[in-house]
Amino acid sequence: MSIPDLPKNTTLEARSVLITGSNVGLGYSAALLSLQLGASPVYLAVRTLPKGDKARETLLADPVVKKKNPNAVVKVYQLDMSTWDGVTAFASKFIADRKTAGEGLDVAILNAGVVNMDFELAPTGNEAVIQVNHFSTALLSLLLLPLLESSTTPQHTARLTIVTSRSHARVQSLKACPPDDYNYLASLNDKKTFATMERYGLSKLIVIFFLRELSTRVSSDKVIINNVCPGMIKTKLTRGVPWYAQPVLWVWYATSANPVERGAACYVHAVATVGKESHGLWYHKMKLTPYADIVTNQEGEKLQSRIWNETMEVLEKVVPNVGTNI
Ligand SMILES: NC(=O)c1ccc[n+]([C@@H]2O[C@H](COP(=O)([O-])OP(=O)(O)OC[C@H]3O[C@@H](n4cnc5c(N)ncnc54)[C@H](OP(=O)(O)O)[C@@H]3O)[C@@H](O)[C@H]2O)c1
Repeated sequence: MSIPDLPKNTTLEARSVLITGSNVGLGYSAALLSLQLGASPVYLAVRTLPKGDKARETLLADPVVKKKNPNAVVKVYQLDMSTWDGVTAFASKFIADRKTAGEGLDVAILNAGVVNMDFELAPTGNEAVIQVNHFSTALLSLLLLPLLESSTTPQHTARLTIVTSRSHARVQSLKACPPDDYNYLASLNDKKTFATMERYGLSKLIVIFFLRELSTRVSSDKVIINNVCPGMIKTKLTRGVPWYAQPVLWVWYATSANPVERGAACYVHAVATVGKESHGLWYHKMKLTPYADIVTNQEGEKLQSRIWNETMEVLEKVVPNVGTNI
């Protein structure tokens, strides 16, 4: 299925936009498109600063950016989402810099994500995919919330968009709410629970539960919160896939993938085209799409508060009272 064009009048004129994982892939292309549509400043939050600096250079050298947004500002920040310190240090610096400069933040796109072929624990002790795609994304959402909220004006409601994936719908391992006396998220740190692509989809399913619950606690008058999947896009995401499985990917990409620019347009659609009606919802290839049944059925209702409670328990230990940011 192809991705439609953005409406002709789409603009991000003078909007400040933060994009995590924006040195390559969808994050980079979303930064480029945002700049081409007038955004400034654009903040690149990247794991490796030299990669971010290189991306900044290329973005500002883009002929469309030079022509349409000649005074664009692009700033690079370090963000390592595999550690708690990486997330909190980034948020502290980023927010302090905005305060010092008297600036707000209009749009946050939490795009950084990872697929691991093998089981790996992050330095936090959590399984690495769950750490980056869920825990660190959730923590960053909460840390940015007050800045976003304070940036809302009568003309523009601040945006928080998380990049999820259709793969959340293929998850088989989480079909029912686990027993009450069981710490479900902690159980994922056991290697026996790990299966490669299943874990990726599971991380996206879990962060969807978090986002849905967050959107019930934050008014769409203050911050519009939604999530987006661009469908299959050829990027470096599958870099760890072993050589013998690569031909399957090539066929898959050749038959199903859209160009990365189209994927980036899906992000812009979620932050600039749709409005308050998108709060808590999921856009797949720009189309409002129902979540998987497990998200919305009776079991999903129980799971949502379960995931929320377990997540908040972990995050409160990292940043005491982080829940008061809501
Ligand atoms: N490509 C697809 O078909 C597809 C489909 C649906 C959803 N998505 C989602 O789209 C998002 C972007 O993926 P992509 O396809 O553009 O993949 P990508 O090219 O691999 O980009 C991923 C980005 O995330 C960053 N990242 C990974 N681990 C990080 C960490 N620990 N801390 C900080 N940054 C980290 C990477 O930084 P480095 O360059 O330093 O590794 C990179 O900038 C992901 O959330 C992915 O799940 C992709």
